[in-house]
Amino acid sequence: MSWKDTRATRLFNIGLPIVLGPFGGLSSVELSSTVSEAGGLGSYGLYGYDPERIAATARELREASGKPFALNLWLPIEGEEPPSPDAEQFAAYVDVLRPYFELVGVEPPSQPDTYLPDLDSQIQAAIDARPAVLSFVFGVPSESVIEEAHRNGIVVAGTATTVDEAVALHAGGVDAIVATGMEAGGHRVSFLRAPEDSLVGTMALVPQVVDAVSVPVIAAGGIADGRGVAAALALGADAVQIGSAFLATRQSAISPAHLAAMRGPDAAHTVLTRALSGRLARGIPNRIIAELADPAAHAPFPIQNWLTGKFRPVAAAQGIPGLMSLWAGQSTPLIREDDALKLMDKIVDSVDAIFGRLRG
Ligand SMILES: Cc1cc2nc3c(=O)[nH]c(=O)nc-3n(C[C@H](O)[C@H](O)[C@H](O)COP(=O)(O)O)c2cc1C
Repeated sequence: MSWKDTRATRLFNIGLPIVLGPFGGLSSVELSSTVSEAGGLGSYGLYGYDPERIAATARELREASGKPFALNLWLPIEGEEPPSPDAEQFAAYVDVLRPYFELVGVEPPSQPDTYLPDLDSQIQAAIDARPAVLSFVFGVPSESVIEEAHRNGIVVAGTATTVDEAVALHAGGVDAIVATGMEAGGHRVSFLRAPEDSLVGTMALVPQVVDAVSVPVIAAGGIADGRGVAAALALGADAVQIGSAFLATRQSAISPAHLAAMRGPDAAHTVLTRALSGRLARGIPNRIIAELADPAAHAPFPIQNWLTGKFRPVAAAQGIPGLMSLWAGQSTPLIREDDALKLMDKIVDSVDAIFGRLRG
């Protein structure tokens, strides 16, 4: 049997067990559709999108490719009260960030009514868009959401950073589980324990999750070339999810400053930080991460993410990497390819060669 035919490729109705990781705030229709057209599963991150934007994005994805695609949403972490600062507290949060607003020439915002779109309307819009796959992070989607997705022919995936989370997702009824090791770029999507206490590497996590659940497992974190894909399949994964390596391609929505940082020397020592969003995430060290290292110095999620989100895109446009979120994973120095289609081709050739050699 070919490595290209797995439980995941059959479940997602795709030709290759390669999933493009969703990028909340940085997904692009071009990259997602390129990966889907090449036989993988192009995912698109909907973090912060309102229902109209979700519907419009799904339309664009469908126009760009008739192949299956995945949409991705963030759930609230169960038991975590959304922060509701009074005016004085909000002003204090803004004050910490004032020098950065000044540097990019943006007026600090006043306190909003809400920091995120209503989740139920986001989920409804995502289901109405009928993607092949709807994936979630930071929790277990409710039974009613999974049932509604299934009624619409949508496969539901959850994301685990520990074996316990994978078991909870399995018990909750998801159809597939992304097992994401701490090497991965972007947010640590832990929901049962603090992310700082859930830092399992992909090599250890994937086989344990494979042993603990009966649904297909998608390995994520630290996979950037054919060697990583072959290794993940050898660990028992049914597919891989690749983020950083696709983020650094020309089809991605990445800014030139972010790309330059991924190609620079600091990409070899990515760090985990709460400074930019209030939640733990892996990225390339920069000025704002260094200056806001003390968690007491900044707002909790989602306020910090909302506040820094007012100057980070401006900093990206102005080419100021010190004030951006330079999300990237530990495999970033492995990245050689700047075209997503060529990356897919190279991975396929390399995995073919590796398994051919091993068989020989
Ligand atoms: C910029 C960026 C944004 C991300 N946003 C999301 C997201 O919104 N939802 C999600 O499930 N994963 C998100 N991730 C994780 C990726 O989808 C993927 O699982 C991860 O990058 C895989 O690890 P790698 O970077 O080592 O390849 C993000 C990663 C990056 C680099």
